[in-house]
Amino acid sequence: MKGEGGYARVASAAEVPEGGALAVEAGGIAVALFKVGGRIYAIEDRCAHQFAPLSRGRLCGAIVECALHGWRFHVRTGRPPAGEFPRVRAFPVRVEGGAVYVAIGGSSSIDSIK
Ligand code: FES
Repeated sequence: MKGEGGYARVASAAEVPEGGALAVEAGGIAVALFKVGGRIYAIEDRCAHQFAPLSRGRLCGAIVECALHGWRFHVRTGRPPAGEFPRVRAFPVRVEGGAVYVAIGGSSSIDSIK
């Protein structure tokens, strides 16, 4: 369900483990939520290589490494650390009242974040 500003509630914040991931869906898109340093980030749960779910990857700091062939993506931006691969989409996240909201239509607003 879409809320204010195109944000959709996808989970409770407590469901996302610190240093781990939770696979959810928003607007028909598979989304991987990651919690790093108490903050929650959202990227498309579909590796840019052969589409494995990144929520099953290994999280090292703010970088997730795909479980299949090791491509790596920053969970905040969806970009590979050294620009060596195509990126995955990253989505704005809001946490309010213990709930996590993701804006699927808002990925372009964080394109400039490194
Ligand atoms: S499917 Fe992710 S690195 Fe190959």
